Amino acid sequence: MIPQSFIDDLLARADIVSVIDRYVPLKKTGINYSACCPFHQEKTPSFSVSPAKQFYHCFGCGANGNALGFVMEYQGLGFVDAVKQLAADYGMTVPDVRSDQAVQVQATISPLIAVLEQASQFYRTRLKTASVAIDYLKQRGLTGEIAARFGLGFAPDDWQGLGHAFPDYETRQDLSQAGLVIDNDQGRRYDRFRDRVMFPIHNLKGQIIGFGGRVIGKGEPKYLNSPETPVFEKGRELYGLYQARQAIRQAGKVMIVEGYMDVVALAQYGVNYAVATLGTSTTSDHLQKLFKHSEHLVFCFDGDNAGRKAAWRALENALPLLTDALTLEFLFLPEGEDPDTLVRQIGHEAFEAKVSHEALPLSRFMLQEVAARVDLQKGRPEDKARFWHEIKPLLNQIAAPTLRNVMWTEARNFAGLMKPKQDKVFERKSGDWKRRNEPPPMPRQEPKGLEDRLLAYLLLRPVFAASKANDLARLRQGMLENAGLQRVLEFLQSSPRLKELDTKSVLQGMPALAEGWRQWLGQSWISALEPASEEAETEFTDICLQLEKQGQIRMGGSQLQDIERKVNASGFASLTEEERASYKQLILEKHKR
Ligand code: CTP
Ligand code: MN
Repeated sequence: MIPQSFIDDLLARADIVSVIDRYVPLKKTGINYSACCPFHQEKTPSFSVSPAKQFYHCFGCGANGNALGFVMEYQGLGFVDAVKQLAADYGMTVPDVRSDQAVQVQATISPLIAVLEQASQFYRTRLKTASVAIDYLKQRGLTGEIAARFGLGFAPDDWQGLGHAFPDYETRQDLSQAGLVIDNDQGRRYDRFRDRVMFPIHNLKGQIIGFGGRVIGKGEPKYLNSPETPVFEKGRELYGLYQARQAIRQAGKVMIVEGYMDVVALAQYGVNYAVATLGTSTTSDHLQKLFKHSEHLVFCFDGDNAGRKAAWRALENALPLLTDALTLEFLFLPEGEDPDTLVRQIGHEAFEAKVSHEALPLSRFMLQEVAARVDLQKGRPEDKARFWHEIKPLLNQIAAPTLRNVMWTEARNFAGLMKPKQDKVFERKSGDWKRRNEPPPMPRQEPKGLEDRLLAYLLLRPVFAASKANDLARLRQGMLENAGLQRVLEFLQSSPRLKELDTKSVLQGMPALAEGWRQWLGQSWISALEPASEEAETEFTDICLQLEKQGQIRMGGSQLQDIERKVNASGFASLTEEERASYKQLILEKHKR
């Protein structure tokens, strides 16, 4: 569409050193220029720009290209957009077949951008003296610095507030074209945004193309957005993308959240790579735009129905766009919470830990959602058939060839292997056997686990228990997996003459279990133990320590579940001070390792 001669002219005019220097300050080093590479993280410069060859090259990550390539890569633009932008920077008009039309569109666009910029300037100035708005933002935990970074402003409670910024307010057409004012049927003009905190929305060039305005406190509608205008298309724009570009590159991923406030709060807490759709679901256009910036997308939505639905819409739109290089993940937050409230509660580190450990890959999310619509637990052929009926069209839509194949197999296994109640295995807790009135399960035949070794020592040399009474009591609370071990500990701890016990007396004291244990103790690895040796005592102590650590993690797990259940039910506000304090700690501990 764009004639090659024009591109040649453009490249001749747009000197690569000055093009790059605008974005990445360059230093002259010999005949070339250098800088730290903007396309990967580094401390010493390996990014080199050659004025002679009009070419850049990074010796670190291999990125290279000419001035146009740089603009494409750095701004995340397609070829045509990059040509247009570079041309605009150098005052050249791109001649294409539709050039007349292009010029016309350009002619409407630029004035609108200027008007929006001027309005934003006005809103920002007003925020400085609007104590109600400042108090509101403060109460929501925003710092002045972050408000400034996102250019937040305030639209005064005034029907014609913008009249202060635009002297010819009543007559200017561009004010209504930009969506800033509304002309009513009586021919009266008034401001669209009144008494609202203003979030300017930028395009990738950093130009303001629209606004979102939030009521202060309660009120309807909570958010008011600019209408669609020649410069603003909701289904294509992403709030915060302009600010996040660099961080997305550095983090190697981009997070998609639901709200303006989420983007801002996350950035304040150092999660700078988040963007939000503008109250719409995630469209193909959004996805295509995001893929230009990163191959790793993490959707971070509310765990409620609306959030899961939003995620599902994103998944549906993504399937036809997938390639095997792309990673899409979905993180669902406790119901009723959003990234804003969560990151304020648990901080950067625990939030990142959640993102990296709890996000579901697209494949899992897809299986889970479809499985949730069908009851596969009963193993009925009809249910399996319905599962297939639902999932097959989705599998067929996956554009990534390898992923499609693997998913096909997985889905089949998933439906086929599902057996009734199989998950009981994971739910078994110590003590369960008591409730079911069954004899406790016998230890496994193979040695392996720490718990088996501990049990072996306790049976062979019960006196060990005397010196470690406190530790063993703590262990029991940490929930042991081996119900037999649990049982022996109970017995030992209730024995008055612990120091006098030996193997025989323990087995006699637990007659119902004795026979099974006698056989178990006959295994070769147990006969090989020398429980009277000094090493044995050291090992015993060591096992106790390790088990206690594991128990803490497991306890943490259940404590964490309790807290999350509470958050799900009634929000962070319902947590006690103690629970609040331990929430973050528990998340971090759970994901350490
Ligand atoms: N939204 C909108 N119009 C509304 C409500 C929401 O356009 N009446 C869009 C906004 O882009 C908003 C997003 O949907 O940011 C998410 O909405 P919601 O979760 O309700 O708001 P939050 O972003 O959590 O806002 P806040 O924390 O300020 O309540
Ligand atoms: Mn919110």
